[in-house]
Amino acid sequence: MNTVTERETAAAAGAAESAKALEITRLQAWYGESHILHGVDLSVGRGEVVTLLGRNGAGRTTTLRAIMGLTGRRTGSIRIGGRETIQMPTYRIAHCGVGYCPEERGIFASLSCEENLLLPPHVGAKGAKVAEGMSLDEIYAMFPNLAERRNSQGTRLSGGEQQMLAVARILRTGANLLLLDEISEGLAPVIVQTLARMILTLKSRGYTIVMVEQNFRFAAPLADRFYVMEHGRIVEHFGTAELEGKMPVLHDLLGV
Ligand SMILES: Nc1ncnc2c1ncn2[C@@H]1O[C@H](COP(=O)(O)OP(=O)(O)OP(=O)(O)O)[C@@H](O)[C@H]1O
Ligand SMILES: [Mg+2]
Repeated sequence: MNTVTERETAAAAGAAESAKALEITRLQAWYGESHILHGVDLSVGRGEVVTLLGRNGAGRTTTLRAIMGLTGRRTGSIRIGGRETIQMPTYRIAHCGVGYCPEERGIFASLSCEENLLLPPHVGAKGAKVAEGMSLDEIYAMFPNLAERRNSQGTRLSGGEQQMLAVARILRTGANLLLLDEISEGLAPVIVQTLARMILTLKSRGYTIVMVEQNFRFAAPLADRFYVMEHGRIVEHFGTAELEGKMPVLHDLLGV
């Protein structure tokens, strides 16, 4: 290592390697004149699964959308793999290796299952652990239902199949930080179990996951840590070990 530049580059790479997958501080966000997030602090280590709980309208979807740069004005800091993204447009944020699965799933109705899978561009962050993105073969091995339905039109898929497709599609991009909004919503228990296994597989493969969930029973055994939001703020934060002791508080806050 000779030059200062080389040393600086190596130091930066080292810093990026040790940085949190996601570090949000004092995040405020607006939709037009509506001030929705009032100083959110949230951090997620690499390979962690973190769940964002809260009542309807608490600001959970807005938090995910703010991370992606999809709200109106945002202030504060959002570091992804150590890089500050608060000033970045959405396409650059995606290229930091983030995949967002919105509540409405966004499956293209006129395209087949496989065509939906082939749509996304490659966004995997350089030097990231999971930079390559899954091949169609890997996707079909992980989601046998999608393999069976590969030629079916988007709208012909069941709700569960559409949800798997929505998650599978972001895995194709090479994203290693996954933002999943209410993936269990409205699905039959057997499908929810399949999704739970999917989350555990992704975790074992080193993905970092932020899940917004209303379904506490689904989220509880999957997450390493929990955040609870209310009125655009984080009001509780704890790990799995503290979960039992927090149940009365969760009962009050969420009715679980
Ligand atoms: N596009 C928008 N324009 C203005 N206000 C919005 C918009 N989207 C959401 N809001 C408001 O922001 C607040 C937070 O909404 P958000 O969608 O983040 O809630 P949530 O926690 O995801 O709850 P849920 O999904 O259960 O409704 C709500 O008061 C909502 O009315
Ligand atoms: Mg929501």
